[in-house]
Amino acid sequence: MDLFEYQARDLFESYGVPVLAGIIADTPAEAKAAAEKIGGTVVVKAQVKAGGRGKAGGVKVVHNPDDAATAAEAILGLDIKGHIVKRVMVAAGARIAKEYYFSVLLDRANRSYLSLCSVEGGMEIEELAVERPEALAKVEVDPLGGIDLAKARDIAIAGGFDADTADKVAPVIVKLYDVYKGEDATLVEVNPLVLTEDGQVLALDGKVTLDENAAFRHPNHEALEDKDAADPLEAKAKAHDLNYVKLDGEVGIIGNGAGLVMSTLDVVSYAGARHGGVKPANFLDIGGGASAEVMAAGLDVILGDPQVKSVFVNVFGGITACDAVANGVVKALEILGDAATKPLVVRLDGNKVEEGRAILRAANNPLVTLADTMDEGADKAAELASK
Ligand SMILES: Nc1ncnc2c1ncn2[C@@H]1O[C@H](COP(=O)(O)OP(=O)(O)O)[C@@H](O)[C@H]1O
Ligand SMILES: [Mg+2]
Repeated sequence: MDLFEYQARDLFESYGVPVLAGIIADTPAEAKAAAEKIGGTVVVKAQVKAGGRGKAGGVKVVHNPDDAATAAEAILGLDIKGHIVKRVMVAAGARIAKEYYFSVLLDRANRSYLSLCSVEGGMEIEELAVERPEALAKVEVDPLGGIDLAKARDIAIAGGFDADTADKVAPVIVKLYDVYKGEDATLVEVNPLVLTEDGQVLALDGKVTLDENAAFRHPNHEALEDKDAADPLEAKAKAHDLNYVKLDGEVGIIGNGAGLVMSTLDVVSYAGARHGGVKPANFLDIGGGASAEVMAAGLDVILGDPQVKSVFVNVFGGITACDAVANGVVKALEILGDAATKPLVVRLDGNKVEEGRAILRAANNPLVTLADTMDEGADKAAELASK
């Protein structure tokens, strides 16, 4: 999960990374009030999850509250690399002497952490990496050792800092690493890290990516999620703890176990090629122990996708017995009532398969077709979706 700059700023502040005052505003009037509160020269900054905001006109320096309102007016609604600005941050203005770059990130290929550092910050780092790769130091960070003051100093020296300045930025680098480690981030980037005219080191722009696999250790991270931006179906699935990914086809898929669902997507894709090119509409793994409620929630999410024309329920009973799944399907259709209008193909196999099939046959819901095998089910679902 990527954070907005203002969220990164707040995290930095809580770890003692030096940052400037920043107040978010959703309207020009709020921006004016924020500028009054901060006082003096302020910077109005677009809050979108994209870099290069400065170049796109999303960062404006102003010297009084009325101009802050005007700047916010101009920035709100701006399209920056496909992201519409809905919120700005009014930040205290810094008197910048030098702009530097620092980041620490997860290096999957080397199963390690990597820090990048340069005295030449400010510009987009991708450009620096291409145009002057020698100016961007890449220093491996041992995940067990982390970054202490000595290591931070080594990183700064490698990045081209002179000894005095390296001493100044090293404590800030250590704190940024504390954020990275403490929050289970996969990226903490500061561009620019600045030296002010009066000799202070400040993080002026922050980009943080949090590792969602570690969310269970950080109950506070949920509040950082941008609920607006999420796909509404994915948000609904998440609210039910369902493992759902929206795809762009027509055949809704429900299965138990990620491996089975992945192979169901393949089989449906192959079958779809024989039926006018229909494709899977989603990935949905209801996991083990699928209750009627879980099945109902899953069907509800899938049937809420207007692109879906048919649904293929493919379950292999193991710990989850087929009779429980069959009851789940029947109850789910009852719960959904008139909301369920699309045909369902159900393939059950494994533990208690006969009982499961008997339950579905007895319910005799006209929307439900039973399939004996996975291939047959995929073919039927694709055929129904192509009509
Ligand atoms: N609080 C601030 N005070 C003074 N200048 C700033 C401030 N924030 C940003 N800037 C200037 O604007 C530039 C771009 O801002 P930044 O926050 O890095 O956005 P982006 O990286 O998206 O372009 C910075 O490199 C810096 O020169
Ligand atoms: Mg920046």
